Amino acid sequence: MSYEFITIHTEADKVGVITLNRPKQLNALNAGLMVELGQALKDFDANEAIGCMVITGSEKAFAAGADIGAMATYSFADVYKNDYITRDWETIRSIRKPVIAAVSGFALGGGCELAMMCDFIIAADNAKFGQPEIKLGIIPGAGGTQRLPRAVGKSKAMDLALTGRMMDATEAERAGLVSRVVPLDKLMEETLGAALMICGYSQIAAMAAKESVNRAFEGTLADGVMFERRLFHALFATADQKEGMDAFVNKRPADFKHQ
Ligand code: CAA
Repeated sequence: MSYEFITIHTEADKVGVITLNRPKQLNALNAGLMVELGQALKDFDANEAIGCMVITGSEKAFAAGADIGAMATYSFADVYKNDYITRDWETIRSIRKPVIAAVSGFALGGGCELAMMCDFIIAADNAKFGQPEIKLGIIPGAGGTQRLPRAVGKSKAMDLALTGRMMDATEAERAGLVSRVVPLDKLMEETLGAALMICGYSQIAAMAAKESVNRAFEGTLADGVMFERRLFHALFATADQKEGMDAFVNKRPADFKHQ
């Protein structure tokens, strides 16, 4: 399938890489781009050979938010009745294999929200995160007021959402929004290294780990702990668990078959 607003490729036939590709608009997220992104993610997720996905942008911008030009004239009736702007944004939540955001440059508004929908964020040292919607007379509309406080706590989330200021990669790492900060020229190498490492493990265990960590954000602690326990027990039904533990006991590398 050919795309207008993104490019896709695979690394080592195992990692599906999606590059947002509206450089002139700093990868502003219009409806067409979000539909294409959802389709590419679903295709990679359904591909047996793919174990992990990466979403990235350009050096200057991961994404500078939803497309303001496209939104500028919408009325309440437009956006409410048709769920415009954010209609196709939740596809990423249905993706079951791990998705990493490799962020350089601006990740603002919907760009920050998209990065937060990924399972973890690796940031280049030039990355800048923010929820500047307040400057446009709106609030974040794709989960920013919900995921940001869970990631960085109430005080910093309020600071960012109410002032519209940007935070740099160092502050984002300190606050827990990003898992690692790397030099810009090492961003893809480091991210693909992490993705390939994940691909080397049991795909079933990786999917279960993702599902269980996500549960921590969406339910109560008691529910999450019980959910984790059930998945943990269920993994003892997989051949990969036998292989992984046998390999450890016999001091040899594991050869997972994803079964
Ligand atoms: N939508 C549409 N176009 C955008 C855009 C956006 N979110 N962000 C940048 N662009 C366009 C600019 O209009 C400009 O286009 P032209 O060259 O045709 O004028 C081009 O990208 C380059 O941008 P700048 O000239 O502004 O570049 P800069 O380096 O001076 O500034 C920036 C970069 C600070 C990111 C600035 O572009 C900016 O503030 N962008 C808007 C950020 C924003 O408000 N995002 C939130 C959007 S609302 C949202 O996302 C809602 C939601 O929750 C879903």
